[in-house]
Amino acid sequence: MTFKIETQNIDFYYGKNQALFDVNLNFPTNQVTALIGPSGCGKSTFLRCLNRMNDLVANTKLEGTILLDGENINSNKTDLIALRRKVGMVFQKPNPFPKTIFENVAYGLRVNGMKKTSELEERVEKSLRRAAIFDEVKDRLHSSALGLSGGQQQRLCIARALAVEPEVLLMDEPASALDPIATQKIEEGIHELKKNLTIIIVTHNMQQAARVSDRTAFFYMGKLIEDGETEQIFSRPKNQQTEDYITGRFG
Ligand SMILES: Nc1ncnc2c1ncn2[C@@H]1O[C@H](COP(=O)(O)OP(=O)(O)O)[C@@H](O)[C@H]1O
Ligand SMILES: [Mg+2]
Repeated sequence: MTFKIETQNIDFYYGKNQALFDVNLNFPTNQVTALIGPSGCGKSTFLRCLNRMNDLVANTKLEGTILLDGENINSNKTDLIALRRKVGMVFQKPNPFPKTIFENVAYGLRVNGMKKTSELEERVEKSLRRAAIFDEVKDRLHSSALGLSGGQQQRLCIARALAVEPEVLLMDEPASALDPIATQKIEEGIHELKKNLTIIIVTHNMQQAARVSDRTAFFYMGKLIEDGETEQIFSRPKNQQTEDYITGRFG
């Protein structure tokens, strides 16, 4: 098994408050890993360490090592733009730009210098298809993205993240603001995507974790309590706290 991302001894602080305690978790290439655990246990904090989004939060400190393809992402040689191109992110609330559907997806491509209309069109269509939304928007690519439903907006945001061809996709509760049908479409998309992407998804919906992920990691109070194959975590957890959580005794 090769690991796309390896994390070693991760401690993370917001000011004096420690949010992560000695987390060691590796992410196999082209698999989906779900991060689960009660609200406030550090899932989003940990996810944001993986593409250095926490750099944007003042007065924070990270200790430990994070390797992407074996390279330390916190080295002073790291090119942050290149890192975030490789490790894309989708947030809880859909956040399309107030632009057309086409321009939302083309945005990152233009930033990277792609100019030819035919190339842009090809890449926009491919990204919308990978995010399982092309058929719904193909006749209105030049209308505002803000006219889409919430579920469509979220798939558009996935398409926007995919356009620059990341190798890892981080998703922080991507379906928590969506209805069951929209959620199902996102989940189906995830199954397709992992053919050439490593996906890490935060969810507090355990059924969703069980449906979409190959591996599951359970966090509690800033610590990684247990991780393993999803099937094992949900049927034969080794740790009592994991069992209590997945059987609904707390959280
Ligand atoms: N921007 C922030 N500033 C200060 N503390 C934060 C910030 N974001 C999260 N925290 C704290 O870090 C801990 C973990 O939060 P978070 O990673 O958001 O958990 P989860 O995603 O599992 O709900 C919580 O105690 C939370 O209050
Ligand atoms: Mg969170």
